[in-house]
Amino acid sequence: MLKLGLDSFRIAIMQSSEIRQKFLEFFKSIGHVVVPSSSLIPDNDPSVLLTTAGMQQFKPYFQGLKSPEEDFGSRKLASIQKSFRTSDINEVGDNTHHTFFEMLGNFAIGDYFKKEAIVYAWDFVTKELGLSEDRLFVTVFAGSEGVPEDKEAYQIWQKTVPGVEIRKLGRTDNFWGPPGDSGPCGPSSEIYYKTHSGEVEIWNLVFTEYDSDKEGQLSPLSQKNIDTGLGMERLVSILQGKESAYETDLFLPIITAIEELVEVGGKENKAIKSVKIMSDHIRGAVFLSADGVIPSNVGRGYVLRRLIRRAIMHGQLMSINGRFLATLAEPVIDSYSGSYPELKTNKQTVITMLEDEEAKFDQTLKNGLKEFAKFEQKGSISSEEAFRLFQSFGFPVELTTDLAKQKKLSANTDEFEKYFLEHQEKSRGGEKEYKGGLAEVSERTTRMHTATHLLHQALRTVLGDGVAQKGSNITNDRLRFDFSYSNKLTQEQLQQVQDLVNEKINKGLEVTREEMSLEEAKKSGAIGLFEQKYGDKVSVYTIGDFSKEFCGGPHVTNTKEIGLFKIQKEEAVASGIRRIKATVT
Ligand code: ALA
Repeated sequence: MLKLGLDSFRIAIMQSSEIRQKFLEFFKSIGHVVVPSSSLIPDNDPSVLLTTAGMQQFKPYFQGLKSPEEDFGSRKLASIQKSFRTSDINEVGDNTHHTFFEMLGNFAIGDYFKKEAIVYAWDFVTKELGLSEDRLFVTVFAGSEGVPEDKEAYQIWQKTVPGVEIRKLGRTDNFWGPPGDSGPCGPSSEIYYKTHSGEVEIWNLVFTEYDSDKEGQLSPLSQKNIDTGLGMERLVSILQGKESAYETDLFLPIITAIEELVEVGGKENKAIKSVKIMSDHIRGAVFLSADGVIPSNVGRGYVLRRLIRRAIMHGQLMSINGRFLATLAEPVIDSYSGSYPELKTNKQTVITMLEDEEAKFDQTLKNGLKEFAKFEQKGSISSEEAFRLFQSFGFPVELTTDLAKQKKLSANTDEFEKYFLEHQEKSRGGEKEYKGGLAEVSERTTRMHTATHLLHQALRTVLGDGVAQKGSNITNDRLRFDFSYSNKLTQEQLQQVQDLVNEKINKGLEVTREEMSLEEAKKSGAIGLFEQKYGDKVSVYTIGDFSKEFCGGPHVTNTKEIGLFKIQKEEAVASGIRRIKATVT
């Protein structure tokens, strides 16, 4: 068996399942009600793509909009929350970053505040878990931008743990929230642990007393709340005496399964990184899929697809033969379904999805490799070409650079991100919805973008081919479409247009994309704003047999994803030009 340089598993001092249980038991014993993890798909907040923290499901309670007593029978809650952050995806492969992770948390909604939160957390880590006080230190908020220094937390720490090292840190470290574009937030205090190689933040105690609006203006919440997050992966690493979670029982079953497939000989360091990335991504993909995420080219579906493709790519880098995703999903499902039974319930969905995606990517990979051969003749590859490979064949940029290395091509991909962002900017009309993740294209604006194509064609069908696009703009709330037509539309015409769009949506038409020259695009009968400059090649999007239009995308893959289309307003913008505002729900 391959030696990955990861310590072989020794009898753990505390198994991860025991740690979860200990945490929940502790908070139960001091009056908290245990609430199950919510789904990775948030159901109360369209501004976030995935659940990133334990408090996500409690947002309306923190804001005083719902009563925790009515829904949970208590103002004091505890949970172990499945969480997912895309912002660190490029860091995965080191010792501390993950996409999917578990967050242990206790919450007080208009109940206890700083003092109890501090005492409980310290008692749990030192008395229940037995971490040595000498290795722990804490931080408090130093104050900034209208929020004062947290002197109260400082004094509570001094009193609770005389002599503890207290550091004061600013906004980046010690102020948390809001999750999404607005909502609860506040100063925080963190507990750190000193390992042999550095310092790790293990527990974040947030004193949630502000509500932030979309512009970042803070106002006091009607009640003070406690929101805490203790990182499971880091905690288990410490308690099992390991440098990373990959060496703990959280990951060993999947790592072992990978080791059974792989023969890498001398390339250990790179292989270790690939093994870590594969195990992180497969674990994440299994959890996303079990919560109902379906691979696609937008939003959370794209996050899932990206995890899968990166996992496959790293398997290929280690020369794993054949298809392997489903085999590697098994140990994840087996080892986590005790704590997360949905993995077992949805096992078949997860496995089938992984098999389908792997087959699809095989084909894409083959097509992309054909395209790649063209660069081999040329001897080099530019950022723009790397971006085209990404856009048309789903090649992650690391795959392109790795292949270039293998084939001894010079590859300059420094500007890849610039093209990516430019493209994203164009396709969203400049709107920035989801911060943080490179590839997080807004799902809602994408749905509206495809709806705009349907609207364009529906107007031509109902009003005649004289209708041509004069402008389009999409925000998170609505789409706006300007077109040439001389009269005000009647109620009846508007109804016909709306009905036609919804009929096409309900038909579940496939949306497909082809690349061609501008000339070919015009010849094919594609409509669109031809005077706009699109570069040598243009993308033509076809929706079933209904619409053919060229534009930069992105679009949904099936019209069913759009939802219900509704016209809100029709008006004149200039002589001979009408404007429709509409939305999708
Ligand atoms: N919500 C806080 C965090 O995610 C606890 O760190």
